[in-house]
Amino acid sequence: MPVPIILDCDPGHDDALAIMLAAGDPAVDLLAITTVAGNQTLEKTTLNARRVCTVAGITGVPVAAGCDRPLVQPLSVADDVHGVSGLDGPSFPEPTVGVVREHAVDLIHRLLAEHPEPVTLVPTAPLTNIALLLTRYPQDADRIREIVLMGGSTERGNRTPAAEFNIRTDPEAADIVFRSGVPVTMCGLNVTHQALATPEVVARFEGLGTSLGRTCAELLTFFASTYRTLWGFPSPPLHDPVAVARVIDPGLVRCVDANVVVELNGRYTRGATVVDLHGSTGRPVNARAAMSLDADPFWDRMVAAVRVLGARTHPADRQPPPS
Ligand code: RIB
Ligand code: CA
Repeated sequence: MPVPIILDCDPGHDDALAIMLAAGDPAVDLLAITTVAGNQTLEKTTLNARRVCTVAGITGVPVAAGCDRPLVQPLSVADDVHGVSGLDGPSFPEPTVGVVREHAVDLIHRLLAEHPEPVTLVPTAPLTNIALLLTRYPQDADRIREIVLMGGSTERGNRTPAAEFNIRTDPEAADIVFRSGVPVTMCGLNVTHQALATPEVVARFEGLGTSLGRTCAELLTFFASTYRTLWGFPSPPLHDPVAVARVIDPGLVRCVDANVVVELNGRYTRGATVVDLHGSTGRPVNARAAMSLDADPFWDRMVAAVRVLGARTHPADRQPPPS
């Protein structure tokens, strides 16, 4: 049976591929897409979610906008990584997929109440919406199967030497989530840096012969340019789909039990996830930390999802069968 999930995201290039993986893979049932300020402003991340749904032919999945700023600190976007639009690279048509009037937090709350079984939340962005849900509707914790998030790191950060972007953008929200008691799996940079979109991977998307495959290749090409400029990466890590992959097939992402706390006060370390992998702090286990990715089957599932979606949206694009 497909696992029911809600994807909370800030598209963002890697969020875009996470949306496609969540919509195109049969192992998950994407109930809703919610957006939050992060990589770009809420207005832009929401428009980008609608754009991705439009070009990927994702219909019947409600898109709801959430919080437009972090709980405490001002918003600081990642236009250096994702561009002014938040999804620079390809050109997108005017979106035909709309946005529902409901606030993201209220939509999640309603779906948790209505769905016949507990739902997995997959945040791939700052945790503002999720923290607000748990604060406004604490009883919802019992309706959440688990939270499988992209964020944090067992090692270094990327927004600062100590802190990863999603956590550093809203540390207070992350602190609420990790303290909530809800089962949390943290897919941090230490594991997402194993999902490198190499030229061979990009060629697989181009080789699909669909406009969606070409759009993915263009997204990855832009993402590669900023990762090369900012951090000298030969190929960009595709962070967010790793969290979705963990739900699709837990065997793809090996995890260990850990204690994770979020540093809120460190002058140089605010937003760092402090991950105790060996019980040396005496603090109780409150999360699973993802440690390794089986990259080849991960890319197979990612490319297959785009193939499925692309075939639906642009059958005319399909290469004629070999004669
Ligand atoms: O640090 C990587 C994370 O920050 C990803 O979710 C990316 O989309 C950005 O939101
Ligand atoms: Ca993201």
